[in-house]
Amino acid sequence: MSTESTKEKIVIFTGAGISAESGLATFRDSNGLWNNYSLEEVATPSAWNRNPKLVLDFYNHRRKEVERASPNSAHESLVELEERYDVTVVTQNVDDLHERAGSSKVIHLHGEITKARSCIDGSILYDIGYEDIKMGDLCELRSQKRPHIVWFGEEILNYEISVQAIKEADKVMVIGTSLAVFPAASIVKKARYHAEKVLVTMELDKKPFGYRLIRARATAVVPCIVGKWIQGLVAI
Ligand code: APR
Repeated sequence: MSTESTKEKIVIFTGAGISAESGLATFRDSNGLWNNYSLEEVATPSAWNRNPKLVLDFYNHRRKEVERASPNSAHESLVELEERYDVTVVTQNVDDLHERAGSSKVIHLHGEITKARSCIDGSILYDIGYEDIKMGDLCELRSQKRPHIVWFGEEILNYEISVQAIKEADKVMVIGTSLAVFPAASIVKKARYHAEKVLVTMELDKKPFGYRLIRARATAVVPCIVGKWIQGLVAI
């Protein structure tokens, strides 16, 4: 029985594409969120200052969609890796599908929709599950609670620990991301030259150096890659 410290390390880096087959919209696909909403109106600090109720309504609606969604076989197969490997999931997603699938180490870069935060001190967090945040819901500092989401122009969360994790990884699998948003996207380039690196997505403008690209749906290929890694085989 190997201990965590002797197990090979795997980093799984995910984006909205891994949750697409759970029914949650991505951002930049043809039917993506940013084709139906103006991100300047719902996902920036100025949007919050201008119309906090519109922003709350947007995230309350997305939170209810997350509640109705379930992890898919891609989320679930990743958990099987934990028997043999020390697995860290680094996700751009704000949903809780990795946690609900059973992944034990999940690092969120862009926040978590099941949490609220104080507007005055962003380190003051509140677990709200799938409950709405309403105008008038105040934090302990008597300011309006806001979604615990990193908006455009705000500081990413957990960047350093995510970079450290991928630098130590023996294997990296990137799933369902356009790699369009920085600095999150830059993390995948910090993987070691000799690490096995696989990227599963449907559309991608530019493949990061050293990654084997598989253009396919996550549920179609992630369980297969997991199966190969569990047998100690190379993914492709
Ligand atoms: N299986 C695998 N990949 C898929 C699937 C699927 N079923 N469906 C879509 N994809 C791929 C798309 O081809 C695309 O490359 O997932 C990617 C989704 O890209 P985006 O919509 O840009 O989402 P993401 O990369 O997670 O966006 C990053 O941008 O708006 C911000 O904060 C937001 O965290 C988000 C960040």
